[in-house]
Amino acid sequence: MTENNSVKAQTIYLKDYRQPNYWIDQTELDVNITPGLTHVKARLKIRPNKSLANEPLVLVGEGLTTHHIAWNGRALGQGDYAIKGDSLTIFLPLSEGWLETEVSFNPEENTSLEGLYRSRTMYCTQCEAQGFRKITWYLDRPDVMSVFSTRIEADKIQCPILLSNGNLIEAGELEGGRHYARWYDPFKKPSYLFALVAGDLACKTGSFTTESGRPVAIEVYVEPKDLDKCDHAIDSLKRAMAWDERTYGLEYDLDRYMIVAVDDFNMGAMENKGLNIFNTSCVLANSKTTTDLGFQRVEAVVAHEYFHNWSGNRVTCRDWFQLSLKEGFTVYRDAQFSADMNSATVKRIEDVNVLRSAQFAEDAGPLAHAVRPASFIEISNFYTLTVYEKGAEIVRMLANLLGVDAFRKATDYYFSTYDGQAVTCDDFVAAMEYACAKDFSQFKRWYSQAGTPEVTVSDHYDADANTYTLSFTQSCRPTPETEHKLPFHIPVAMGLLGDAGSLKLQPKDFALSDDADNTHTVLELTEASQSFVFSNVFEQPVPSLFRGFSAPVNVRFNYSEAQLIQLLKLDSDEFNRWSASQELAVIAVNAALQEPAAFRVSEYWLEALSVIIDQQLIEPAVIAYMLQVPSVSYLHDRSPQHDVLAIYAAREKVVKVLAHSLENQLTTIACCYDANAAYQVDAASIGRRALRNTALLLLAHAGVPSASELALGQFRSANNMTDQLAALKALIVIDESDITAEALDEFYQQWRHEALVVNQWFSLQAAVESEKALTRLEQLTQHPAFQWSNPNKVRALISVFSNQNVTGFHCDSGAGYKWLADVVVKVDKSNPQLAARLVTPLTRWAKYAERGRTMRQELARIAAQPLSKDLFEVTEKALK
Ligand code: ARG
Ligand code: ZN
Repeated sequence: MTENNSVKAQTIYLKDYRQPNYWIDQTELDVNITPGLTHVKARLKIRPNKSLANEPLVLVGEGLTTHHIAWNGRALGQGDYAIKGDSLTIFLPLSEGWLETEVSFNPEENTSLEGLYRSRTMYCTQCEAQGFRKITWYLDRPDVMSVFSTRIEADKIQCPILLSNGNLIEAGELEGGRHYARWYDPFKKPSYLFALVAGDLACKTGSFTTESGRPVAIEVYVEPKDLDKCDHAIDSLKRAMAWDERTYGLEYDLDRYMIVAVDDFNMGAMENKGLNIFNTSCVLANSKTTTDLGFQRVEAVVAHEYFHNWSGNRVTCRDWFQLSLKEGFTVYRDAQFSADMNSATVKRIEDVNVLRSAQFAEDAGPLAHAVRPASFIEISNFYTLTVYEKGAEIVRMLANLLGVDAFRKATDYYFSTYDGQAVTCDDFVAAMEYACAKDFSQFKRWYSQAGTPEVTVSDHYDADANTYTLSFTQSCRPTPETEHKLPFHIPVAMGLLGDAGSLKLQPKDFALSDDADNTHTVLELTEASQSFVFSNVFEQPVPSLFRGFSAPVNVRFNYSEAQLIQLLKLDSDEFNRWSASQELAVIAVNAALQEPAAFRVSEYWLEALSVIIDQQLIEPAVIAYMLQVPSVSYLHDRSPQHDVLAIYAAREKVVKVLAHSLENQLTTIACCYDANAAYQVDAASIGRRALRNTALLLLAHAGVPSASELALGQFRSANNMTDQLAALKALIVIDESDITAEALDEFYQQWRHEALVVNQWFSLQAAVESEKALTRLEQLTQHPAFQWSNPNKVRALISVFSNQNVTGFHCDSGAGYKWLADVVVKVDKSNPQLAARLVTPLTRWAKYAERGRTMRQELARIAAQPLSKDLFEVTEKALK
């Protein structure tokens, strides 16, 4: 086979979807764990799918040793079945009946962290998307939904805790020091939601009573050393349960909600029915060891997995192309929840930063794919920012187009109509259409066309007629799946500013939305070019466009500096005030790029920021974000013709000018602002710390002499991880070698028993920009606390280096690229999913001109090796 043919042979297409020819109504598993060998007996109640009868049953399995196969109690012989590669074909004509299999495999040697594997003191599973086939022969696809009962047997001392989905039915002792437990999950579910845990774990409990009075026992299982880090997850879960009742009318449906914390985990967490399995980094938290961002991440991920119980589990996906049906919707739900629990503006800024600096880059690169992809080789490669975050933006646009009440009507309809079913994104949109009598057929292009639309806007003010015209054109660059894009349906939330603030809107030829004071409206852009005229406009206005980032697009409007400053000062939309500040930063960086020696930063911008700091009318967390210059990645997208190192240098210059000009105010904030407040983790306290630490970091960047003392003082006296880490970061920036090295060492000694803190310590150092970055990285991989088998550690060093350390990764010699390529090939041998993610920065080669050639060569070197399916797909597509 030529390379191209082998790609084709392995590619799965949405258009080929067919229902399975058999259903599995019941699944009875008997999992017998002994060190080095686990036996699984499965009894599957098979029922032919009438519409597709008379075809043989083909089950899928990976890495299984098969000991026995029987149909309705009769052992099958040679001619009755065939095992070929990953498939088991049963030739007997089957009516309804029970298929039994017995297999074995070794979880201890399973380093892919998919299927059943061992992590430290426990055995655990990860089945989404296609890990269940590593446990038993099955129809491992989400439209096959089955009622599961699971018996687990293991050594009582090694594995005192035995867990699976649903309710505990029975447990007991066996001879030889063994014991067992039987679990039963009354809800039909696809195999990807199956979970099992067996190990030596401690448990922290809580409780919640649902609106209709069902008491729910909450159990968080962790290693005994982590018992003091469970409270925040339990509190977050309870808040999420109450919020989902309030906001969506959705209640929990089992008597028990279990969460298990696992150290070795490929992703953030997994929503298995009744038994969530979490990466320790997304569930453990206490104020001593966890930063504010860490606390907020735990709250968000706990809520995310909880919300999946309805958006994902009760209503699931028909096939993996529909992944965003559950992920986009659930990310939208968790974002709404976080916005409600904390600050809506801050949450929006954070999410937009991720979109603009990472999702847009994905959409612009060779791995761009639609939110509902049309094909894949390895579905694990599609757990992406596009499917998750852009998917959430699609739901957000729908929710905003419908309004609160109609959206609720739509989701009620969706959950009640499709409960217990495996459905599609079309079904979701149909529920939206049902609730508002709108036609979303054009809107659905958001699901099928990849790429970030670019919306160019121009305006015209007619002072005689007092009319103001906004003209929009939209376009979208070709992406691998679609050459020519059809226009998107784009909601443009907007308002107009006059010299004294918002203007009343009098649209000439379109309806105005329900805003009481008529200063805000949502235009619906559906054509390639379209104009909107406002009448009775008595002064030349400044348009405030895409308020709250109302659509995931790149906006081009030729704002003057003065107009941006007006938006920054006056817009009623706080998000757009922040956005205007970012735009002013982009202008400053571009000026520094064009004229490195004699560039200027707008003094009006600096003055406006200074006033904002003084007045304190905006919440501190938002001010903190206003003071942050956009990421190199975003700046690079805005100035693609410039070299990334030049952009990095220009950005540094702007940061310095900003910090120097605001030095006095920043110093006051850094040393005195909220400094002696008792430590609390509510949103307001978090925001105040964010502002103080942003100020400290800016002073460090500016090389202000007092920064060093301030940072060292805060490092020593901090009573929480946020302040201590921020101080350490500032010390690293200041880089007085002895002091910094000492502080780093002190920090390690203080926290070496806390794995998650050590990961932060690794990350900080991997991000240090210096000529010696690579040497340092190499040394850190030799550190006794580093482990190649642990994805959190690998990400802490390798992903942070290649995504954040601009000068280190992109150093002229190409050594950073070569180093990453070697790492990727090595990791692929044990953990393909992880390898396929680590390689991402190299796939972006096309953005990097000269450097890109070297990156591409390294990719080609990877592609020449024998690779996993995961890594093969990514490198193949990136080299096209
Ligand atoms: N469904 C999980 C979540 O987003 C993620 C599972 C990821 N699995 C994978 N193989 N990539 O909550
Ligand atoms: Zn999810």
